[in-house]
This record gives sequence, structure tokens and C-alpha cells, in this order.
Amino acid sequence: MLGPLTLTLALPFLPAANALVRKNDIGRLPALGWNSWNAFGCDINSTKVVTAANEAVNLGLKDLGYEYINIDDCWSIKNTRDKSTNRMIPDPSRFPDGISGVAKKVHDLGLKFGIYSSAGEVTCAGYPASLGYETVDAQSFAEWGVDYLKYDNCGVPSNWTDTYTYCVPDGNGNYPNGTCPDITNPAPEGYDWKTSNTHKRYTTMRDALLNVDRTIFYSLCGWGQADVNTWGNGTGNSWRISGDITAEWARIMQIANENSFLMNYVNFWGHPDPDMLEVGNGDLTIEENRAHFALWAVMKSPLIIGTAVYLTLDSINDDHLAILKNKYLLEFNQDPVIGSPAHPYKWGYNSDWTFDPVHPAEYWSGASSTLEGTLVLMLNSEDTTSTRTARWSEIPELKGHHAYRVIDAWTGKDLGCVKTKYNASLKSHDAAVLLVKGKC
Ligand code: GAL
Repeated sequence: MLGPLTLTLALPFLPAANALVRKNDIGRLPALGWNSWNAFGCDINSTKVVTAANEAVNLGLKDLGYEYINIDDCWSIKNTRDKSTNRMIPDPSRFPDGISGVAKKVHDLGLKFGIYSSAGEVTCAGYPASLGYETVDAQSFAEWGVDYLKYDNCGVPSNWTDTYTYCVPDGNGNYPNGTCPDITNPAPEGYDWKTSNTHKRYTTMRDALLNVDRTIFYSLCGWGQADVNTWGNGTGNSWRISGDITAEWARIMQIANENSFLMNYVNFWGHPDPDMLEVGNGDLTIEENRAHFALWAVMKSPLIIGTAVYLTLDSINDDHLAILKNKYLLEFNQDPVIGSPAHPYKWGYNSDWTFDPVHPAEYWSGASSTLEGTLVLMLNSEDTTSTRTARWSEIPELKGHHAYRVIDAWTGKDLGCVKTKYNASLKSHDAAVLLVKGKC
């Protein structure tokens, strides 16, 4: 059985020196914003995007730091580029004032604006994509006022596929049974994925973005392929670690489990991306919604809201909004001084460090400069109500003392001076989040 030390040694810590440092601190902290995909899929238009931007202001999300309003797939004309300029053409029926018109409205609200393309010939929904057109597309994006590019991995032609097959390993470097069924051509030991075509496809767009006169946040969406954790932070500001999230608890747990092994890759200027939030979507219970958000926040993941925040028939409800606005979790996620995230300090349900997509790490802790304390998260991944206990003696940041002042991060309630341990009875799939402050 592997212990925490083995885990730490197994994962190289990538110093910020390797990272893509941009102007005005862009990309230094995890991105906060909204994206159209999880809420609307391809069914997007200017009204929906501009309304989302207005609601980000009205609902107080902008004041809390949510700043990017991003369009996902399906914004352009489908089968062609402009014949003379080679540029992508925004769909005039969906975006009558072009992309620049939407960007302007978003900017006028003091927010930033993001767009989507793919490192292939077509996007996942079959729209023109940027492979071979990186320069002209980066120029269009800059001219239109784009501040963020999500760059997907669909439409890769056969002459651009990688020599070797990659399969996302667990944090111990193993390929757990059943998760990599079609690995037919594994890379030889020591293969450098920075020589892969995937790396080339993503760095070509990086360089095109670095060459335009606008700082555009670069969000890689290569689904964890090609060993991206080892080169993501030299290439983009964030990088997707796996396939798509869905608004289902089982999928959220799988991704949390995968990301839990990647915490040593998290720091300023580079963030693994476990995918956009599903808070407010599907049939997730309130407990599931808040555990999902809390895990993403303490892992210092990008927090990109994926629900319809507005519309008369489809407004976000107050409970979901309160989760997205939790000031303790947002402050932890956006710490300007401490770049590292919370780490699992013990595994929980199985009490070991194995890859477990159903019961991921349940006990997390991390220091916060702005909260002036330690944030402790305890997850109940079981299907029934169960108690989780935070013992100060087990928590690296707290083990030197026996009594601390504790605040419940969900309610803001001061729980007083807590000696030795704190018991939380948690409903199925809920998470307790505690701010543990000064000694008492
Ligand atoms: C997927 C991507 C999703 C969404 C979708 C659009 O590849 O992971 O987040 O962007 O494409 O077609």
C-alpha cells in the first residue's frame, strides 16, 4: 500500500519557472467565469451570452471575481471560412453583431469575453477549427476583443495523430483496470510527450496567441491526453485532465478522484482543469451540488459556472447561487499569496491512497493567506448519512496544537473553540467545509 510520502515523491512538482507567465497577472490564479456549454450545448446566441453577462453583474457574481463570459462550440458558420481572408465567420443569425458585438457588450459590463475552437480541422460539433489556421484565428480573436480561448481536441486528421497511444493514468502511474481498454500502442519508457503531435498542436496556438497584441487566457481542452500534466503549464494557463463532466454524481466523483492525484501540479500560472461546473444542473441534490463546488474550489480548479443563470423559466435557484457565491471557498481558490491547493491528508472511505472513482479522497486541508487559517474539507462519498471527523492531530497544518476556533464555511457560523476533533454528521454525498482559525 502506498503512503502519502510515496505519492508526493511520485509526482514531480513543477516550479512556476516552467509556467506561462502572462501580462497583468492573467492566468496566475484559476479562472472564474461562466461558459455556455453545460447549460445550452449548441443552442447559443448573442442574447443568451449577453444575458449571462448581465446576470453575472446582477447576481453579484462579478463582485466576487467571476469575470469570464465564454461562448463554447457552435458560434460560427458551419462549413466554410471567408474565401478571401480565411477567417472564421460568426453565424449572423445567432450573433447578428458578430463576435465583436457580443464582446463589446460583455466588456461594457466590466467583464471579459471568451471563445472556443479546436486543435483540429473541425470542432466536436463539426464547425471549422483552427489546425493550420492558428495565426489567422488568433488575429481574429484579438481583433474581436476575445480574452480567453478554450482549445478543444476534436477533428484531428490522421497525419496529426500521435505516434503512441496515451491513456490517462492514475496518480500512482498505473492504468487501473477497465479505464484504458484500448491502449494498443503504448509509448516506450521515458518517451517525451513534448515531442508528440498533440504538444505541437497546442503549442502552435499558444505561439499564435503570444504573437497577437492582446493577452488571451489559454485554456487547453485535450482531455488529459498526451501526458499534458507534464507540459500543460508551459503551454496554457489551464489544461483539462479528463473527458467531459456530466451532471451526475458518479461522474463528478470519477473526476475528483483523478484530479486528487494531480495536486502537485497546481500552482500559480498553471491549473489542471477537472472541467466546468455542473452546479445547478440535472438532478444533483443540494448536498451533491455543494460537495462538487467545494472539491473544485479547494483543488484550485478553474471555476467556470455551467448553468443557465437567468431566463424566466430557467433561473438559478437561491441555494445553488449561494454555493457559487461561497466567500470562504472563493477566497481559498483565489489566494494571491499561496498557490498550492488543499491536499488530501488521508483518504477516508477506504483509508488508503488507491485510485477509487466511487470513493475519492474524503479528507482535505490547505492553508489560506486571506482567510488566515486552514480550510478543511470532509466528504461523505457514501450513499447514506455518515459521520466524518476532523482530528487536529491528523491535519498537517494543525497537528501542533489541540484547540482551534472553527467556522462552518457553509453557514458562516462560529463554532467556537473546538478541542481535539470536530464531528460532522453528513448526509449522503455532502461535504463539510471548516475554516480552522487561531489557537484557543
Ligand atoms: C468537448 C469539450 C466540451 C465541449 C464540447 C463542445 O470536447 O470537452 O467541454 O466544449 O466539446 O463540442
